[in-house]
Amino acid sequence: MSLFRGLVVASIVLAVSVPGRAAGAAAGGAARPWLDPALSPDARAELVLKSMTETEKLALVFDYFGSMKPNASYRPPQAARMGSAGYVPGVARLGIPPQWITDASLGVATQRESADAYRQRTALPSGMATAATWNPLLARRGGAMIGAEAYASGFNVLLGPGVNLVREPRGGRDFEYAGEDPLLAGTIAGAEIRGIQSQHVIAALKHFAINDQETGRALLSSDIDRAPARQSDLLAFELAVEQGEPGSVMCAYNRLNGVYSCENRWLLQRVLKGDWGFKGYVMSDWGAAHSTERAALAGLDQESGWIFDHEPYFGAALKSAVAAGKVPLRRLDDMVRRILRSMFAVGLMQHPLGEDPAPIDFDADRHVAEADEAEGIVLLKNGLEARQGAGSTGAILPLARTTKRVLVVGGHADRGVISGGASSTVFPVGGNAVPGLGPPGFPGPVVYLPSSPLAALMGQSPVARFRYQSGDDIEAAVREAKWADRVIVFATQWAAEGEDVSLSLPGNQDKLIAAVAAANPHTIVVLETGGPVLMPWLRQVAAVLETWYPGSGGGEAIAAVLFGAIDPSGHLPVTFPRALDQLPYPKLPGAAVPAGRPFDVEYHAGAAVGYKWYERHGLKPLFPFGYGLSYTRFDYSALRARAQNGRLVVSFKVTNAGGRAGAAVPQVYVGPKAGGWEAPKRLAGWSKVSLAPGASATLSIIVDPRLLATFDEASESWHVAPANYEVRLGVSATDIKLTTEVRLSDWRHSAQWQGHADRTARGWRVPTYCRVIGSGRSAP
Ligand code: BGC
Repeated sequence: MSLFRGLVVASIVLAVSVPGRAAGAAAGGAARPWLDPALSPDARAELVLKSMTETEKLALVFDYFGSMKPNASYRPPQAARMGSAGYVPGVARLGIPPQWITDASLGVATQRESADAYRQRTALPSGMATAATWNPLLARRGGAMIGAEAYASGFNVLLGPGVNLVREPRGGRDFEYAGEDPLLAGTIAGAEIRGIQSQHVIAALKHFAINDQETGRALLSSDIDRAPARQSDLLAFELAVEQGEPGSVMCAYNRLNGVYSCENRWLLQRVLKGDWGFKGYVMSDWGAAHSTERAALAGLDQESGWIFDHEPYFGAALKSAVAAGKVPLRRLDDMVRRILRSMFAVGLMQHPLGEDPAPIDFDADRHVAEADEAEGIVLLKNGLEARQGAGSTGAILPLARTTKRVLVVGGHADRGVISGGASSTVFPVGGNAVPGLGPPGFPGPVVYLPSSPLAALMGQSPVARFRYQSGDDIEAAVREAKWADRVIVFATQWAAEGEDVSLSLPGNQDKLIAAVAAANPHTIVVLETGGPVLMPWLRQVAAVLETWYPGSGGGEAIAAVLFGAIDPSGHLPVTFPRALDQLPYPKLPGAAVPAGRPFDVEYHAGAAVGYKWYERHGLKPLFPFGYGLSYTRFDYSALRARAQNGRLVVSFKVTNAGGRAGAAVPQVYVGPKAGGWEAPKRLAGWSKVSLAPGASATLSIIVDPRLLATFDEASESWHVAPANYEVRLGVSATDIKLTTEVRLSDWRHSAQWQGHADRTARGWRVPTYCRVIGSGRSAP
């Protein structure tokens, strides 16, 4: 969908003057007691609300698209930041600063053709890559980095992260999200929110909810029963809200069970604000609001990005609805209170933005992105004989530093690494390394970050001779492959908002890989893709690395892993299918529906998303969820499970039994012996543990009872059935190393149950179902 679709002629009059910096900076005092930081955010919001006029209140619930150059139809407020996603005026006399809003979860993005100049900023690797680290500390650190860049760039609201579950591996936005499992995705997103908000920038968790494909995203209804929704997609949001406490949640384009997300009372009012106790505000996605009264009464608190909606629903129409009593004044107060509360809670008043962009340490920030990518790279195959670790015969990685002749092919690896398109695209420091590709307008262009894997590989190995082939000429690549001792083929797939992708690599890349591998069996494939792809050449190649969209330090991270300076420790946050017919929908729902016509997608998989679907149907994927090889070898022992104070506690021992340092990701899966869940087992916890050769660690995790429960919609409660449960320790969803059994007793709790122990504590720590040892420790 074009960002510039459907411009509606409207005359917008700014009701409130735009305050400068001094407004936010002003201290409290008798006249403005709400600026006293010693008071709670709730008390402060309540105090200031009492002093506001209705006009001032209305101004806070209406956001202007900040980006567009003035034209006959629309003139953004002057104070909006050019090339940004949104702007909400503040109230100078009360010390309420404006909200300056920017995309997105991978870094500070610029709205493309409308900007005079792109803001050049640091890009994290894709959300999928961060999820593949299985390391919430890195997610938090990455969030803090992009939050700090947003703040320095003059923004106090950042539109991310996204935590839609990857139900559809062809989803054009899967790369922005955190995979297919609610526990992993919710934890990673929650940690990123903590990081962003540590910089006094509000995070907007999106896209709420069940907006899991791009095809027809604004036309489709995701139809799913409430209980399975609570156990899958909604659980990811619930955990992210609970752990991250985002200032805002963004409601999505799609309808849920026939009702638009942004006017879905059950979703916004009952589940989010009621059951989960969300205290922040709901903003609409850009163009996702469809009404005044219905949306306001259903729980929408702020209309975003006007000029995208058909009408300015929360502009003059809301004023009239309040005057007519159709939207009670107390509901308007509730909207405003929520917005103000988030502004106080995240510290927007105490930490006003500067007038001008502040300096950014791009070198330091690039290292944050690089460290994230280094742990997110997944080694899928290492050796021709078997998919085994370094212990197996034939392991080809890590590359020996004495390797003499290396051919690098394709993927513009001589210049940079690819990134995903549309609203999340960060325009990189140093500029687009490969300009001129993809659609010139939204969701393009294709942006390559200037972090050349070829240059980084050369830096790792001063003795090797390197040659490069673009891959356009397959015969030339084959000729050169015969010269080389090792061939590294880079394969890319661009994905972007608004469109879904094929599971096959685009262009001639499958052919290229097969031809090169036929000429030289020592061929290593480096995938830079948003999500899973099919690999028809898998048997022919010696090694495969999935590096996702590698971010600003991606080239360096890839080279470090290939040469073994860093042990690969990424594990798949998503299942890689063997073929399309394994998917719940082999044909993309809606693909054949005529443009513009609404349609329904029946989520017949229910809560059986990803690996759960595969296991339920006895399907063998190409690579399972949780999978990832290392250059070292880990042994697992002493698995114990016990019920303690009503919680399932699982402990186990991990030993680095190989000759190199590395990081293991042992995963705990649980399922009732007698069955009865949506699938035989669910991920219930994990650990990421870095160990020196020969070292061991004994770890213990405490399982969140919702992962052991089913949701009963009639009683609106979670229920753990008294029964025997199998507890499995695996290194993927299909490679189980140890199994034990435990008896759990009956546990019931209302939908309001909340798990994160540190919810109200200052600071943040990794939840108790996840243990991180020795990696990513230096989070700011
Ligand atoms: C996207 C959001 C984004 C917003 C503002 C929408 O098209 O769905 O994720 O934050 O635009 O750019």
